[in-house]
Amino acid sequence: MEKEIKLFLAPMAEITTAAFRKTVRSFSPQAVLYSEMLSAAAIVSGGMHNEYLLKKNEDDDPFVYQILGGDPELMKRACIALQERGPLGIDINMGCSAPEIIKKFQGCRLLSDIKIAEKIVKSCREVCKCLLSVKMRSGFEETDVDYIVDFALMLQDAGVDYITIHPRHGKLSFKRKADWGLIKEFKEKLSIPVIANGDILTPEDAISCLEETGSDGVMIGRAAIASPWIFYSIDMLLKRGFYDLTVDLFDIYKDVMESIADTLPENLHKSRAHRFSFYYFKNFVFSHELMNKIRVLDRIDLMINTLRDYLERNPHERVKSFKGGLYGIHEDLAGSRY
Ligand SMILES: Cc1cc2nc3c(=O)[nH]c(=O)nc-3n(C[C@H](O)[C@H](O)[C@H](O)COP(=O)(O)O)c2cc1C
Repeated sequence: MEKEIKLFLAPMAEITTAAFRKTVRSFSPQAVLYSEMLSAAAIVSGGMHNEYLLKKNEDDDPFVYQILGGDPELMKRACIALQERGPLGIDINMGCSAPEIIKKFQGCRLLSDIKIAEKIVKSCREVCKCLLSVKMRSGFEETDVDYIVDFALMLQDAGVDYITIHPRHGKLSFKRKADWGLIKEFKEKLSIPVIANGDILTPEDAISCLEETGSDGVMIGRAAIASPWIFYSIDMLLKRGFYDLTVDLFDIYKDVMESIADTLPENLHKSRAHRFSFYYFKNFVFSHELMNKIRVLDRIDLMINTLRDYLERNPHERVKSFKGGLYGIHEDLAGSRY
């Protein structure tokens, strides 16, 4: 039987807004899109200020909400509320390593307490008719392979449908290289699907990761901000063995930024636009200079003008072509069903 490879946009706070997802979707009808992490407590308290975060675009599907919390009952109630919106799945965050989150015993802190993590998963499972998944790091403060494999087996027994593993422990943030060897270990020990995440920067990396780990899919974060078209290229590599794509970097920037302006409340424009720009500007030679100019701006139209001015001075940077192909060892993956 052909293996079905799934591609996932990683959940990213302040990035994977409905505005950004629209652009990713325009390049890839199939990629599974994730929300930003959503506080279970905020969902349950139902404040209207939360509505823009929960907004699901008509073309978001297949779509997964990611929830963050440490209280089994609150997490369960958040699942009930989100499920009404018809997502493909709900994902439990066991990866966030921000100090304020860890202090609340949430995110990757849950990896240090197998009992509470199990309670959370079981109580979400009781109510989730949609898919239930966990996105995890390889540990809270260190990676103990035996421990974390047992932890993943517990998640499987507690009823999650798949696990995404970002193989770095919480103290590492983005330091060192993601240990794809651990993903392979998960794949060998678990019977549910395992999705690989961490340091997939190019379409070719995605293929290498699939080959090295045997994972059932790949999840991409930072590279998808700079290249919202990356899922299209990977899909082409898998289906046809090559990709060939030309993009107008200004048009894509303008689309995302205008969409932020149209869909988010004004007090959030600056933070969301700055964060997107920070990663997206990696496409340009003088990204630091550009970012320094953006940092002092509040208004989205002025940020768009800043990139327009830059590209008028550097017109050769506006349109970029990406080409690649599978050669030699990767050929057996070409033709995998997506
Ligand atoms: C700006 C930013 C925000 C993130 N927010 C979240 C989040 O809300 N939930 C989560 O599980 N991971 C979050 N992450 C981690 C990513 O989902 C992903 O695990 C990590 O970036 C590694 O993948 P990559 O090497 O493809 O970027 C975030 C990462 C970045 C760069």
